[in-house]
Amino acid sequence: MAVDLTPEELALAAELPPSEWGKATASVEAWYMDDDTEADQRLPHRRTPNEPCPPEALHALGVRLWVLDADKYESGDPKLAAIRKARGYSYEDCITCTPACLPDYEAKLKMFYQEHLHTDEEIRYVLDGSGYFDVRDADDRWVRIWTKKGALLVVPEGIYHRFTLDEGNYIKALRLFVGVPVWTPINRPAEEHPSRQKFLASVGQAATAAA
Ligand SMILES: [Fe+2]
Repeated sequence: MAVDLTPEELALAAELPPSEWGKATASVEAWYMDDDTEADQRLPHRRTPNEPCPPEALHALGVRLWVLDADKYESGDPKLAAIRKARGYSYEDCITCTPACLPDYEAKLKMFYQEHLHTDEEIRYVLDGSGYFDVRDADDRWVRIWTKKGALLVVPEGIYHRFTLDEGNYIKALRLFVGVPVWTPINRPAEEHPSRQKFLASVGQAATAAA
């Protein structure tokens, strides 16, 4: 979509290059997960020793990151406005997840944790609290992305992923979308789905990749 952006807006809307993700550990950190499927999903599930996921690897999957000053959100952050304009994010709403806010909290957590994909990118801006977005890498390994206050994360269309609160049990996040939002999760396996095929093509994998 062609949008007219001023040079200032263009600069404000620029994503954080992967080479600088390491400077933003207060807002984001990523690591390969352990293989423990029994322990609580809200635990960090780091490997021993910890095995960080290189930002470049996430970027190659289509994951995008911006780090903003979340305290500026209420007063109208020009950086967020520029990102919305540049990427066509015409819809937004705000969700708060805590045990008190979400009826059936434990059941909801399990639901969020079901591996799925979407027909659009998933965009979340963490205004407060924190949570884990887990994405499958090209080798089908789980990468855990810890998003905290200030992180605006884009998870690409067609990537297998899931979400969970962490041990803090609190996240307040903005959900952004291009056009009328579609939140429907498409559970794995969905190898033949056009969004999956598109994703596989984008990461250079054969369209017939194994389920
Ligand atoms: Fe999702």
